[in-house]
Amino acid sequence: MTETDSLRSSDAAEGTGTNAERPPRLRGIPLLGTTLSIARDPFGFLRSARARGDVVAYEAYGTEFALVFEPAAVETVLVSRADEFRKGEFETDFGELIAPDGILFTEGKRWRRQRQLLQSSFTPDRIRSYADAMVDEAAALVDDWDEGETVALRDAMSTYALRVLTRTLFDLPLESDRAAVVTRAADAVNDYASPGRLALGSILPSWFPDRVEREYEAAMADLESLVDDLVAQRRASEAAGDDLLSLLARAEYPDGSRLPPEAVRDQLITFLFAGHETTATSLAFTCWLLAGDSAVRAELDRELEAVCGGREPTVEDLDRLAYTEAVVREALRLYPPATGVYREPKSDVVLSGYRVPAGTTLQLSIYGIQRDGRWWTDPGTFRPERWLADDEGDDGRCRRLESDPDRPEYAYFPFSGGPRHCLGMRFAMTELQLALATIAGRVEFDRVADSLEPSLGVTLDPGPTEVRVRNRREKGGR
Ligand code: HEM
Repeated sequence: MTETDSLRSSDAAEGTGTNAERPPRLRGIPLLGTTLSIARDPFGFLRSARARGDVVAYEAYGTEFALVFEPAAVETVLVSRADEFRKGEFETDFGELIAPDGILFTEGKRWRRQRQLLQSSFTPDRIRSYADAMVDEAAALVDDWDEGETVALRDAMSTYALRVLTRTLFDLPLESDRAAVVTRAADAVNDYASPGRLALGSILPSWFPDRVEREYEAAMADLESLVDDLVAQRRASEAAGDDLLSLLARAEYPDGSRLPPEAVRDQLITFLFAGHETTATSLAFTCWLLAGDSAVRAELDRELEAVCGGREPTVEDLDRLAYTEAVVREALRLYPPATGVYREPKSDVVLSGYRVPAGTTLQLSIYGIQRDGRWWTDPGTFRPERWLADDEGDDGRCRRLESDPDRPEYAYFPFSGGPRHCLGMRFAMTELQLALATIAGRVEFDRVADSLEPSLGVTLDPGPTEVRVRNRREKGGR
């Protein structure tokens, strides 16, 4: 970190500098701002913004944004002064497309009540109880593949993540036609909220016939009626347990009245989206990275053999699967499913030495910060070792996870941070590690194409990510 950077960090932390100047600005064309540059090349846009400084202002889609590339400023916004920020209009407008009453988009007292109600499904004990389903579904996925078969990882992992989610949180198997309703809606929202489509939406008049919008509306209507059916069935069922679907189906306000159907529906749709695409794309990226790196793969195999010795992994193994966790962390660093976190300051604020006016949409750049050479050596290289330290134990070398003390905490925040950090973080990390250990224990992959061309939708989309299955083997039980 340079001296100027550290001066700016302390300014940000103290919130001083009322005379501070405005951040540098990326200029766009009149009326449209930078909308078209983002639509043409979102990653190129991010790079040129980063080159201008730690906080960079721009206008797009009729909204005033500021991209933030400094970990200390991220900590200020998400943690130490979190009360001075809200989710803001850009995020809540997006919420209107999916589930405005869902926990991702609500604020204040309503959000706090929802978080309290829902977190009982994510305690460490509950997550341990989901582990067998995470392993079984991964084993079933691989058992469906033949030696030499070409598999599109993005779709395969999407099926896997949805099965795990509905089996653990909803206590039901979702048959393939119902699962297709969920994935169709997720795809339709991704198309509708992609930078290209948002750009078009800000140019076209509202009466213009729009295929993407029609598809989105039809897909969401189908998803809403599917979720309403699930709730009605669970309410009618004697067998309601303590899973999330049952919890919501019978949830009551303090006066004893039931939550209205829209509130229950929005919550379930939020989980179907937040808990499915994110883990699916991470797994696709992780397996694709592994397929291209024989040294990492060999090290992972060594650890799996030493810890699991040919059987399926269990949740008790996780503490000893340090390399497996490092692989997952590193994939999440290079390809964070959520590339940014959005917040809006309630009043003017100073970040990294710059004054940002109230109402600006702050875009805390997970993708930019996690690939910044100031905090990461060889930032573009897949190197799980960066997360590990070697110990010499009695029985030889042993690896443990270790954070670099010189690296700021918020140089890595794929799950966001502070009071609104991802509620499913522990669920996701457990699922990613167990799925990876199960899949790698049964199969290897060769890449079909050498390069990856991710695109930006609601999440970072890896594209089909095709691999060929190699060295497929049967496994014994746990
Ligand atoms: C690799 C997987 C995942 C990643 C990278 C991820 C990332 C995130 C991020 C960045 C946020 C935004 C927080 C903010 O605005 O500050 C978030 C929120 C959330 N995530 Fe995740 N997530 C993942 C998996 C999951 C799973 C599996 C679930 C549920 C089963 C889940 C449920 C949620 C919920 C409910 C919120 C809203 C929390 C709140 O506002 O209180 N996520 N996640």
